[in-house]
Amino acid sequence: MDKEQLISKLNWFYSFELNQVDLYTSQSKSTEDDYIALAFERIAYIEQQHVDNIGNKIKKLGGKPTALGDVVAPIIGKTLGKVLALSGIGNLLKVNILLEQKAMKDYKELIHSVKGKYDNEVVKILQSNLIDEDLHAAWFNNKLLELKK
Ligand SMILES: [Fe+2]
Ligand SMILES: [Fe+2]
Repeated sequence: MDKEQLISKLNWFYSFELNQVDLYTSQSKSTEDDYIALAFERIAYIEQQHVDNIGNKIKKLGGKPTALGDVVAPIIGKTLGKVLALSGIGNLLKVNILLEQKAMKDYKELIHSVKGKYDNEVVKILQSNLIDEDLHAAWFNNKLLELKK
């Protein structure tokens, strides 16, 4: 993977993380349960940190962070607008789990292709984000199971 390919892949993550900030922020505003609403807000805040750490890395590599628009649609076959309009806590959690799993899969693949080929900083950023996505997926999953009881 050359530097241009890495920058372009990082831009995909940059856009995906931006989509997630929008999604979780809007879910937080539309969720009546206070605790779940706060969880969505906290998770959106962490996704914003991912936007920032990836954006900064793109700049350090000489690229320009570029928002590619809706990158959620190809993943779940629904436009971001439709996903934002989803209601029902179970539906929100299921979509969120799918997105977190996609993020984890792609972070793992990128870590695999850059490990040992780039500076350690890029690997550390990707791994740190991966851990956060793992925690998000686990929280969403636990909440979904809890609500099913
Ligand atoms: Fe993220
Ligand atoms: Fe996440």
